[in-house]
Amino acid sequence: MEQKNELPPLMPLTSPWMHKVMQSPTTIYQLMEKYGSPLNIHRTAPFFDNYTEYKTVFESYDLKHLVLFARKANKCKGFVEATKSSGMGVDTASYQELKQCIELGIQPEKLVVTAAIKSRKLIELAIKNRIVIILDNNDECELVQSVAEQLNMDAKVGVRVSGFSFKGSKLYSRFGFDIEGVTDLVLNHFGKAKSLNRLVYCGIHFHLNGYSIDQRGEALHQSLDLALSLGLNGFKTHFIDMGGGLLMNYLKEENQWTHFNRTLQLAVQGKHREITFQNQGLGFSMIEEKLQGELNTYPYFNDKAKAVFLKGILSYSNRAGQSCADRIKAQGIEIRMEPGRSLLDQTGMTIAKVIFRKKDALGNWLVGLEMNMTQMHSSSADFLLDPFILNQNQKDNEETTEVFFTGAYCLERDILLKRKIALKQLPAIGDLVVFVNTAGYMMHFFETEAHLFDLATNLFFKPNNETVKFSDFKID
Ligand SMILES: Cc1ncc(COP(=O)(O)O)c(C=O)c1O
Repeated sequence: MEQKNELPPLMPLTSPWMHKVMQSPTTIYQLMEKYGSPLNIHRTAPFFDNYTEYKTVFESYDLKHLVLFARKANKCKGFVEATKSSGMGVDTASYQELKQCIELGIQPEKLVVTAAIKSRKLIELAIKNRIVIILDNNDECELVQSVAEQLNMDAKVGVRVSGFSFKGSKLYSRFGFDIEGVTDLVLNHFGKAKSLNRLVYCGIHFHLNGYSIDQRGEALHQSLDLALSLGLNGFKTHFIDMGGGLLMNYLKEENQWTHFNRTLQLAVQGKHREITFQNQGLGFSMIEEKLQGELNTYPYFNDKAKAVFLKGILSYSNRAGQSCADRIKAQGIEIRMEPGRSLLDQTGMTIAKVIFRKKDALGNWLVGLEMNMTQMHSSSADFLLDPFILNQNQKDNEETTEVFFTGAYCLERDILLKRKIALKQLPAIGDLVVFVNTAGYMMHFFETEAHLFDLATNLFFKPNNETVKFSDFKID
């Protein structure tokens, strides 16, 4: 058994605005009084900063570009509004998302529809507003053709491509057309007197799972090859859209990340005391007395975030030594991308109120929060950031208390963070727990209204001066 037995901390990166809000608990209590717990609080300033970071990279390569915010990552209208003044566009994934963007006055040329399932209603809305639809399969092509015929209008389309070859094998995706079939699709079906004559080819789209720069570089080169060959046959590619999945970094210190990873593995092997609820392995498990698997979470710490990640893709060279950026420019193509999570870096936090504390039969402190697991839910195995606690009464010389935070659903697994968290003191009833950097996917993507709980209220922090006031928070 390892002697050093502390729980490994994971300190999150934060922004000054978050601390400003946290230093104003009276205002937070007033907000909770009115809107309930939990509260999602947003700020658009970092959204613009993140966009500027990407824009600066594109400009440094002198590339015509369009960054489309993938709004599936957060439901707030505030971020859609924010794109208007910045030059950003919006990637929409449903009828409601598109309709709202149109109503909010986003220009059609700044919108794209990438929805995985496209209803007739959605397609109609897109065609009527001359918005590019990204095509996924033959049935969808036929549906778009039929709606376009019915409306007696053309439909602007991009083709979603997958099956790129990487290190000798194909990159599998359930989405899109296999790259080998795209030339046939466009040359034999698009254009005058062909079966899909109402579809106007505008560009190529892909979105890759995972966070590999090299895979994206390869996919971009293969898309550029495809664009060349389509161009020789009279189909000009106006844009290549490389989707989202640009990495962001959540954590302050790499050594905390590696230490956590190592300690978790030891705990799963029984060589360190448990650091997660019921010793969950977050991807690791013991099979035949051997540690198997890998950490199945977002890479919360990484040194290839945002601009570095984008530069890596654009400077990725093909066998002839040409970079993606040089080829994009030479071919006169607009490069597009659809970041969701990384544009939302530092833009949001979730605050909940402590309702009870109790010890379970194993002696663990459980701290019940007025929120549920769907209001901060990662699509990966856990959200690995330490929360902040706003104690009403700070006590000196208290012993460190280790707790699990539990939620309001009637499920044994409604444990808000799987990690056991070490706190300076046991939270009191009414204390506040703040989870930072939750705007991208965490707060909205999986939220449900089970038990008829209301969804959390979304507020935007728009300070007027130094002191934080109730009126600085606008409902979305
Ligand atoms: C087509 C498409 N574009 C963009 C995104 C946004 O990706 P991210 O938020 O990881 O940047 C996704 C995410 O699933 C997607 O499917």
